Formats: sequence, C-alpha cells, structure tokens
Amino acid sequence: MRSAIIMTIVLGLAASAALAHSGVKDPQVKARMEGMKTMAADLKELGKMARGITPFDDAKAKAALISLKTENDRIPVLFAPEATDPKSEARPAVWTDPTGFARRTAEMGQALDVMTLSSASDIAASMRTFATACSACHQDYRIKK
Ligand code: HEC
Repeated sequence: MRSAIIMTIVLGLAASAALAHSGVKDPQVKARMEGMKTMAADLKELGKMARGITPFDDAKAKAALISLKTENDRIPVLFAPEATDPKSEARPAVWTDPTGFARRTAEMGQALDVMTLSSASDIAASMRTFATACSACHQDYRIKK
C-alpha cells in the first residue's frame, strides 16, 4: 500500500516532466525546468530499483543521489531571477516568499542527506520522506497545470 502511494507520487513527478516544456522560450525558465527534469529522472531511477523493476545497482543508486543533491543545490541559483514564460509553472510565491522557498529547498536537502541506499528496500524506506519533500515544495510553489 505504502509503496503504491510512493509510486503514484514518483510517476506523477516523472510524467509531468515529459509534458511540460516544449516551446519554452525563456532560457532561465528552461534551465530550471531542465534541472527539475533531471531530479525527476533520478527519482524515477531510484523508484524503479525500490520496486524491483530494475535490479539494485549500488553505483547507479549513488549516482542518482549525487545528481539529486547537485540539482537541489542549484535551485537557489536557478530560481533567483524572476524569469517568466507562458509555459512556466512557477507560482509568484517563489519570489514573494523567498524564505519559505528556501526552507523547502533546505528540507529537500535534508531528506537527501539522510537517505541511505544499501539495498532496494532501503531505498524504498527513505523514498517516502524524499518524494514528500518534492511534493511539499510543489504544493506551495508550483502551479498544477
Ligand atoms: C524548493 C522547491 C522545489 C523542490 C524541492 C522540488 N521542486 Fe520540482 N518544481 C518546483 C517549481 C517552482 C517548479 C516549476 C518551475 C517552472 O515551471 O518554472 C517545479 C517543476 C518541476 C517539474 C516540471 C518541470 C518542467 O519540465 O516543467 C518536475 C518534473 C519536478 N519539478 C520534479 C521534482 C522532483 C522529482 C523533485 C524532488 C526530487 C522536485 N521537483 C523538487 C519547485 C521544487
């Protein structure tokens, strides 16, 4: 049950990436969307291992985690300019509430820091907090389209 919920979140996050950015013109918006897309791809990779769809692979799991941390660390820079594009899903709150946005970024970082990846079930166990951190920020700062 729990893993079904997690997978719904994971697939939802990953699927929206494919739809979103054809036709984005603003380079800054495009860059931040690409960053998010990378995070979604990493999450998907870990999600597949957690569910046993792909075999557990220590090196791949570690690479996905490093990539997630790198992308998360880039969020403050990528979202600093208040760039807009008709395709952007960023809420104005990203810039009107920078403290809250920074808090969500920090929470994501903490979830990634405590994540351990020693086995598929280990990934599955930490996946919940980690996927919740994505959704928590999206809830406040991303428009659902
Ligand atoms: C600190 C806030 C924050 C965190 C944490 C966060 N996101 Fe996002 N995400 C956003 C915002 C804001 C947008 C909208 C950006 C835009 O359209 O300009 C977005 C957009 C996206 C998109 C759509 C990208 C596109 O192509 O339009 C995907 C996919 C996504 N996020 C996945 C994730 C995943 C997966 C995680 C967790 C591993 C995550 N995000 C964590 C704020 C966040």
